[in-house]
Amino acid sequence: MKKLYIKTYGCQMNVYDSHRMADLLAPLGYGPADTPEDADMVILNTCHIREKAAEKVYSELGKLKHIKTARAHEGRSLQIAVAGCVAQAEGKEIMARQPAVDMVVGPQSYHRLPEMIAKIARGSGRALETDFPAEDKFDRLPEDQAVEGPAAFLTVQEGCDKFCTFCVVPYTRGAEFSRPVAQVEKEARYLVSRGVREITLLGQNVNAYRGEGPDGEAWTLAQLLDRLARIEGLARLRYTTSHPRDMGEDLIRAHGEVEKLMPHLHLPVQSGSDKILHAMNRGHTCEAYFEIIERVRNARPGIALSSDFIVGFPGETDADFDATMVLVRRIGYAQSFSFKYSPRPGTPAASMKQIPETVKDERLQALQALLTEQASAFARGCAGRVFDVLFEKPGRKNGQAVGRSPYLQPVHVDGAASLIGEVHAVRIAAVLPNSLKGELVSIVRA
Ligand code: 5AD
Ligand code: SF4
Repeated sequence: MKKLYIKTYGCQMNVYDSHRMADLLAPLGYGPADTPEDADMVILNTCHIREKAAEKVYSELGKLKHIKTARAHEGRSLQIAVAGCVAQAEGKEIMARQPAVDMVVGPQSYHRLPEMIAKIARGSGRALETDFPAEDKFDRLPEDQAVEGPAAFLTVQEGCDKFCTFCVVPYTRGAEFSRPVAQVEKEARYLVSRGVREITLLGQNVNAYRGEGPDGEAWTLAQLLDRLARIEGLARLRYTTSHPRDMGEDLIRAHGEVEKLMPHLHLPVQSGSDKILHAMNRGHTCEAYFEIIERVRNARPGIALSSDFIVGFPGETDADFDATMVLVRRIGYAQSFSFKYSPRPGTPAASMKQIPETVKDERLQALQALLTEQASAFARGCAGRVFDVLFEKPGRKNGQAVGRSPYLQPVHVDGAASLIGEVHAVRIAAVLPNSLKGELVSIVRA
């Protein structure tokens, strides 16, 4: 048996893709390796969203090269593949910069990995696949998936047509594409038949979902959620990541109507300044965002909100940054992600006049302090509440199990190890820095 090690960077869609690459290589005799040192093949599934993410890949490749050289002295081989968004954006450069790399494969062409491996085995050197192929990769992926635990990701939409001026995604993942409802439902039913209880639907613009429905019409994400919610045995649904422009009325309503849809919405706003939103080509104003949030909160009182923010976008003044702080205070987020603007090659904002790094640092610190305070306040507010928790895996202590609250917070409970894969009511006894400690309310098996 050969061994495969996959290192994943970036978003949850990359996590999904990594699993699918492992599924694809399993029939070729590849089982999981614990470390790159143990592996016959290493795949780096990369992210290009910020500079650091790409730089990490080159430094990791340097380390892998040493392992490969040491192996060669023992007469053994190590194949190195680079997949994901850096592969898509910089495929040829990777090949040139690191001769130890055998294969480069983009996110839309990784179903071709078995052919690429066969090609290399025939002695034809290295392989590069970064086209956007005409065939649907999802049609070529194996139906059998290795299922790890009761919570799974399922990609339903890929790509982006919005062209925010800071973002590489339209270039690395291509145009918006939605999988047909029947294909998604089949995969969801498969996952549930293998013990999955919670599915997170993934897409770079998941709420722009327009997959072909059984009636031949383009279905919305709300229609898809409603359909999937009917699957017996599936307890919870989530979706991420959304764009404010695609927050349709039926999706907002779904938050009130689809019981299995968890009360948590990740809706990135990026900035609280209309001028910056315009320069980012976001296609919405702050007022439009507030209005959406109000409607979502009316549909699902108590819903937890999260967002992504970029500070130091070209042209951001102190006043623009203050407007972001005001927006954050007005909304009140349960959790958030914030980043310094990082110029990405080939994107429009990269050629705009840049903000000094020190200013970006200061703004990021101030914003993160506020977001952390909001997140702690949200967590503190959970003390004493009773949540349904889906237990996902054993905890660090004997007999302990860790699960997630409806708001995605990790909750650990002593004496719950036998309940993995089940949903139980848990009273939150203590709020810890990164998790909640709970006690079972009762054990009625769900
Ligand atoms: N610089 C900094 N952050 C970025 N993001 C996307 N592109 C960039 C960039 N060039 C952030 C956005 C997005 C999240 C996934 O990453 O906030 O929502
Ligand atoms: Fe990174 Fe975006 Fe690619 Fe995900 S889609 S890996 S976030 S660049």
